[in-house]
This record gives sequence, C-alpha cells and structure tokens, in this order.
Amino acid sequence: MKLQDSYPLYIANKAEQPNTDLAVTDKFTGEVATRVAMADAAMIDRGIAAAVEAAPAMAAMASYERQAVLMHCVTRFTERADELAYALCIEAGKPIRDSRGEVGRLIDTFRIAAEESVRMTGEVQPLDISARAKGYQGMWKRVPIGPCSFVSPFNFPLNLAAHKIAPALAVGCPFVMKPASRTPLGAIIIGEVLAETDLPAGAFSILPAHREGADLFTTDDRLKLLSFTGSPDVGWDLKARAGKKKVVLELGGNAAVIIDKDADLDDAAERTVFGAFYQSGQSCIGVQRIIVHEAVYDAFRTKMVAKTRALVAGNPIDEATFIGPMIDVKEAARLGEWIDEAVAAGATLLCGGGREAAMLQATLLEGVPRAVKLYTEEAFGPVAFFSKFSDFDAALEEVNDSKFGLQAGVFTRDLFNMLKAWDRLEVGGVVINDVPSYRVDNMPYGGVKDSGLGREGVKFAMEDMTEIRNLVIRRRPQD
Ligand code: SIN
Repeated sequence: MKLQDSYPLYIANKAEQPNTDLAVTDKFTGEVATRVAMADAAMIDRGIAAAVEAAPAMAAMASYERQAVLMHCVTRFTERADELAYALCIEAGKPIRDSRGEVGRLIDTFRIAAEESVRMTGEVQPLDISARAKGYQGMWKRVPIGPCSFVSPFNFPLNLAAHKIAPALAVGCPFVMKPASRTPLGAIIIGEVLAETDLPAGAFSILPAHREGADLFTTDDRLKLLSFTGSPDVGWDLKARAGKKKVVLELGGNAAVIIDKDADLDDAAERTVFGAFYQSGQSCIGVQRIIVHEAVYDAFRTKMVAKTRALVAGNPIDEATFIGPMIDVKEAARLGEWIDEAVAAGATLLCGGGREAAMLQATLLEGVPRAVKLYTEEAFGPVAFFSKFSDFDAALEEVNDSKFGLQAGVFTRDLFNMLKAWDRLEVGGVVINDVPSYRVDNMPYGGVKDSGLGREGVKFAMEDMTEIRNLVIRRRPQD
C-alpha cells in the first residue's frame, strides 16, 4: 500500500491543490511520506463565506437526505478501510491494529449520526400553567445553529474529526475544519468522500493550516460554534478569543483508575496496561494515575510491571507492535524530562524510562511526589504511576485531587463503592470494571474542570449544533 504523492485541501466541497506546502512525515521513520496543500487566510475566508452561503440550503435538507449523505460515508469508509488504516498508521505512527480499530470507530460514528439524523424531535408543551396563560400552547423544535468551525487533534485524526463532521451533517450545519497539521490525511480523505455526495455547494471546507495563520477559525463572527479538541492550554485560550460563538472544548486530563481490594487483578492489570499504553498513551483518557488498595498493591504492581515489560515496541506497521512512536521527538523528549524530574524528586522507576528519538518506553513509577509535572499535568504519553490507599473514600478524593476531570475507572465488585464513585467523582464519566480510557462513540463524552466544556457523542454534539426554536400559539376564547 502507498500514500498518494500529494493531497489537496477542500474549499466549498471541491478539491483544490494551490500548493504542496505541508510535509507529512512517517512518524516512525521521520521521512516525508506525502505532501498536502495548505490554506492561507484568504482561503479560510473563502471557506467561511461558502459555509455562510450554504447555511439555508443545509438547513432545508430533508432528514432522509442528510441520512443518505451519512450512509454514503459509512459505505465508502467501509470499502476504503484498509487504505484509511494505512494512512493513519503512517501519519500518526499509530500501530496498525489500533489504526484499524479507529477506522471501525469512524464508521460507527457516521452510522450513529445517520441513525440520529432522522430522530431530531421537539416537544409539545402546555403553557396554560396559570390564568394569564389560559389558551396558550407551546411547542419547540431544534434548528441548525449555522456555520460551524472545527479544530481536530493529531491523536485520533479520523474519529475525532468524525465526532464534529458527522453530527454537523446530521443536523444540517455547514462547516469549516482545520485538521491537525501533523496528521491532516484522515480529514482530507473524509473530505474526498463527502465530495462524492450532493451536499449543497459550500457545505464543507477542510483546510490544513498552521496555527498562526488560522485565527479566523476562532475569531470570525460569521461562525456560530467553535468545537475544539486538543490541549487544555490552547483550548481555553481559543475560548477567550471566540467572541459570541458557542464553544465546545474536548481537552485533556490525567485520568485515574482505582483498583479496589476485591478486583479481579489479572483482568484489571490487562486492562490497565492497555489503558496506560495503547497508542503510546496519546489519548486524553489514557491512564496516568493508578490508585491501588494496599491489600492488593504488591501483587497488582508485580503483574503490571511484568505485562508492561512484555509489550512489543517497534514499527507501527508491524502486526505485533503495541507501542509505536510518540507524535514527534519533541513530545517524547518533553515527557522524558518529566520522568527524570519525578525520579530526581524521589519517585522510583519500576520499568521503562528509556527513549530513542520519538520512541519512549512504556514506563511505570511509584512514589511520584505531588509537586512534579508528572503528577499534576497531562502526560499524554506512555507513562503511569502507582499510589496506595487504605480507605475507598480517600481513593475517591485522590482522583479528584486534579485540575482535570474527564473520565475515571474503578475496578470494584462492591455495588456501594460503585455508586459512591458515580456520585462523588468530579469527572464527565465513570467507568466501572474498566479503565477510564474506555469510550463507545454514542455515549456522552467530555470533561469538567480544565478538561473541557460540553459533550460529544453524536446525539450530544447534535444538541450543541442546534438552537431551540420555540412556538407559542394563542387561542382566543371564542376559538
Ligand atoms: C481523546 O483522546 O479525547 C479521545 C479518546 C477516544 O475517543 O477514545
């Protein structure tokens, strides 16, 4: 399999190749794998103007027509699954098995959107709640919010783009998207498939651009919603500059998992190794903090270290590879420094810690002091650390001892501990008997605290991409 020599961008539903300015590297070899057209401010402006013009026609599409567009995507992504997985593996350095998994999720996300697109309902509401409202009747429906701005991240170039594009199409919103510059191919291939449909002219633009030249995605008042997935620092800064538009932020975290004393340790270790190290920990819900009951701490740590040492690292295109490179050398070096800082401050390295260019070993530590970055910040790489608890309430407090709150996992068979965790954990989602890294694409997904604002998961994103429009009907007494 081979990538094309170059890829276009999409403005107003059409491929254009004004240049090949963006080099996309193979994240394992570091070599240029292909080149992609790059948008400047004038092209972004054209994309936004086209979206504004397309908004009435998009809003007027019948739901079966929107559903047909989404189903076309499902069919074509299924036909092109091998090519999509290959592109993802090369551009993101994502192990091929995980890449195939992400293509499966891309198809799920569009299929869910196709199903939801014909279920946009409203409500009839009696308004005659007091004498002054006698004879009044209300009802509301959802209408598309208008042109949307999407900024998607490098770690799931297909599925996290899909979580913005598919709900927008399901409700009838035109959009402009800026995919991550390091991994633009996934979104561009989605654009190629959308260009095969008869969406109204101007419905979509997919515009790779450097962050510095891409301010319009954030600041342009013609756009009614900004949906950003990426790092917390960037996300909150965009929100501050987004003006009057609605803002949805899917940001990071330093997710925790609790291993209670009654957990099935083999199963919990298997899942926790996966949650900490899949796609080299580059997931917002990757396990970073492992909080283990003292009665099972030693046994659990031994199992985890053995399983972690056995992980196969190497070229992501090899079927056996579990750990590939991080997105670039700079990121791997940054996290290597955080590990060194933790060890210098008294943490014990249990396995891993080594680095060669962008390949950082799967690393486990214990005794990480609260003052270091590895404890308080988002690692976003293949590193996790243990701590010990004796009282379940204290373990919950430790999970909450974070500026983030995306998801948390709890391995327990105790129904009351499960309910307590659901009540008390300050996160967007609690996962029982699995890692916080678990996500199915129809569930509400998003964070509290610094982890974000709003929820994705197709139906929930559709709500954000619509406004409620109310209707009040007065009946005269004689009618
Ligand atoms: C994320 O990194 O925020 C997304 C995780 C996922 O979709 O599995």
